[in-house]
Amino acid sequence: MLCFCLSTLNTTHSQNQQELSPTLIQWGSCDPSVVNDTSLTCGFLDVPLDYHDSSAGTARLALIKANATGERRGTVFFNPGGPGGSGLAFLNDIKDTLLGLTGGVYDIVGWDPRGVGNLTMPGEIFCFDTLEEYEAFFNGTIELTGIEETGNFANASDVQALFNQAPIMQAKYEELGRRCLNSPNGRYLRYIGTAATVRDMVSIADALEGPGTPINYLGISYGTLIGSWFINVFPERVGRVVFDGVIDPVFFSTHETSLNVASLLVSTDTIYKALVTGCALSGPSGCAAAAEGDGPLDVDAKVQALLKAAYDAEKANTSVPITSGQIRVQLNGELYSPSDWSHFMNLVYPNLVKQVEAEAPDPVSPLLQSENIVPRHTTTNRRVTKRLGTVNNSPSYTLPAIFCADSPDVHGTTMTDVFEAVIAGTRNVSHMFGSAWPSPLYECSFWPVRSVERYGGPFDKTPANKILIASNIFDPITPLPRAQAVADRLGGNAVLVQMNGFGHTTLAEPSKCMEDIMAAYMVDGTLPANGTVCEADADFEVFDGVNTSAILANLLDGGA
Ligand SMILES: *[C@@H]1O[C@H](CO)[C@@H](O)[C@H](O)[C@H]1NC(C)=O
Ligand SMILES: *[C@@H]1O[C@H](CO)[C@@H](O)[C@H](O)[C@H]1NC(C)=O
Ligand SMILES: *[C@@H]1O[C@H](CO)[C@@H](O)[C@H](O)[C@H]1NC(C)=O
Ligand SMILES: *[C@@H]1O[C@H](CO)[C@@H](O)[C@H](O)[C@H]1NC(C)=O
Ligand SMILES: *[C@@H]1O[C@H](CO)[C@@H](O)[C@H](O)[C@H]1NC(C)=O
Ligand SMILES: *[C@@H]1O[C@H](CO)[C@@H](O)[C@H](O)[C@H]1NC(C)=O
Ligand SMILES: *[C@@H]1O[C@H](CO)[C@@H](O)[C@H](O)[C@H]1NC(C)=O
Ligand SMILES: *[C@@H]1O[C@H](CO)[C@@H](O)[C@H](O)[C@H]1NC(C)=O
Ligand SMILES: *[C@@H]1O[C@H](CO)[C@@H](O)[C@H](O)[C@H]1NC(C)=O
Repeated sequence: MLCFCLSTLNTTHSQNQQELSPTLIQWGSCDPSVVNDTSLTCGFLDVPLDYHDSSAGTARLALIKANATGERRGTVFFNPGGPGGSGLAFLNDIKDTLLGLTGGVYDIVGWDPRGVGNLTMPGEIFCFDTLEEYEAFFNGTIELTGIEETGNFANASDVQALFNQAPIMQAKYEELGRRCLNSPNGRYLRYIGTAATVRDMVSIADALEGPGTPINYLGISYGTLIGSWFINVFPERVGRVVFDGVIDPVFFSTHETSLNVASLLVSTDTIYKALVTGCALSGPSGCAAAAEGDGPLDVDAKVQALLKAAYDAEKANTSVPITSGQIRVQLNGELYSPSDWSHFMNLVYPNLVKQVEAEAPDPVSPLLQSENIVPRHTTTNRRVTKRLGTVNNSPSYTLPAIFCADSPDVHGTTMTDVFEAVIAGTRNVSHMFGSAWPSPLYECSFWPVRSVERYGGPFDKTPANKILIASNIFDPITPLPRAQAVADRLGGNAVLVQMNGFGHTTLAEPSKCMEDIMAAYMVDGTLPANGTVCEADADFEVFDGVNTSAILANLLDGGA
């Protein structure tokens, strides 16, 4: 569930977009297999595969538009991150949220970037024909089972077991790279990446609003890397631009992704503590893992015992259906979306307990407080993963196809180096999630291709307009210090707003305060005082009767 990180670049090309002959985008109805909101319209735009080599041919971008609800002032472009999130699917799902954040006075335009979905060409990257082929390929490796360790790699035999997998996993990832190159879209891999995507956005803007017009953009998560490359390659085109859930482009371009995953996890264990704190505050009626009178430490102890039971079961029989490593990955994914915590702890967690109980040598049921669980309300999960056009459930490799192709082209890193980083990150940064595996980010050292164009800086150009940067104080993958670094680098050209909340991007929890700030900026260009802090909405209950501020207050009191 870890998504993203780094890059670099040795590009000499930047500034000037090659002029396209004026293109008219024909808007019409959307493909109903992908978009079912009939108020949205769709279209296509052809662009050069390589903006510096027209002989490479053309790409075709699938576009989507939500009309402004008020008096139209132009267009806001949107990217949902991932990388690999589908602009089409996302706009279909959260059109109203996006119209709210932009005051309703802009058309919202999203698109499936190169490598995404099955309408844009080149589309989604699949390196296996079927899920079964993928599973057979990785059979017997940590790719399928996760990493078994008890937290902090305290047992030397867990460390040894991991290092024993290093030559196997390295060979697998190298072979994977060859498979991807030989896949149907393999010959396009070098044309997929953030630099091309930035130029594509400019091409779409040129076609819609005219060459040279200001470009308004809302980028979340990996979409902020698109944003950083955009505002530095085309500073004169910067209109109103919002980043939310920030990747630091300098760190990305100067550090090897696979070796620095832990640096993104500085808040991750804190968010886990928030989850168990919220569970304890809600009590047995609101959270299945809480007994009457339980504090956060008691709930934490149950989760740890569940992980330990799964770990012991795997030691007794390596073929168990669910491992502690897999539970860790699942729990890590939850941290992105507090709106899902109640559902997770009341419906998913009890099932995990049952599964582990079935495989464990010893009884596990005390780990679960209540057997009679009343399903609680479930709120929309806005996580940024949505795969279009998956055939036979084959996993998508679009994330590494974009992120690794953008990242530094380092040679000679071994899987042993990567595992050393995993162990150090687990011990020093995130005891709970440093060992979460797999993550596409670990594939970058072995990825066979880099994009024909990458942008490595400078990242302190002066944009034509000031931008707005938003970050949760606790984000599991794009931590606040990265947003601060980007704001610092932009100096007077960026205002940073923090939200006292948890999850990935400020959209993870509803906040009228954030929404008003973004809308005021988008509509009038009004920026709040630098350093403004927003709260999540007080009536947003993470668990029954427990709001974000209650969790934060108790976290400070000692938490888990
Ligand atoms: C549209 O798709 C979403 C899932 O993407 C689904 O939840 C919803 O029910 C669908 N709506 C209609 C009208 O088909
Ligand atoms: C969106 O706006 C355009 C231009 O104003 C209009 O032609 C079109 O009918 C609108 N589409 C919808 C679905 O309302
Ligand atoms: C995985 O390997 C085991 C033997 O190590 C074999 O029994 C099993 O059939 C394999 N599974 C797949 C999906 O290839
Ligand atoms: C470490 O793991 C090994 C192998 O699973 C086990 O035999 C040993 O008891 C463990 N040591 C500790 C201190 O838990
Ligand atoms: C190990 O677990 C697998 C999968 O649940 C099961 O089929 C097998 O019988 C177990 N082996 C032993 C020795 O219990
Ligand atoms: C495209 O993807 C959607 C969603 O996964 C699927 O329903 C549709 O059949 C796909 N279309 C094609 C042409 O593959
Ligand atoms: C992180 O942990 C490793 C042990 O795995 C240790 O050698 C290293 O010094 C630590 N690094 C930092 C920056 O604390
Ligand atoms: C806002 O504050 C940040 C520090 O958090 C600073 O880096 C940035 O330059 C400030 N921006 C303005 C416009 O003062
Ligand atoms: C949010 O939680 C705090 C602390 O428990 C409480 O004082 C406040 O009333 C709650 N707000 C709402 C709207 O429930």
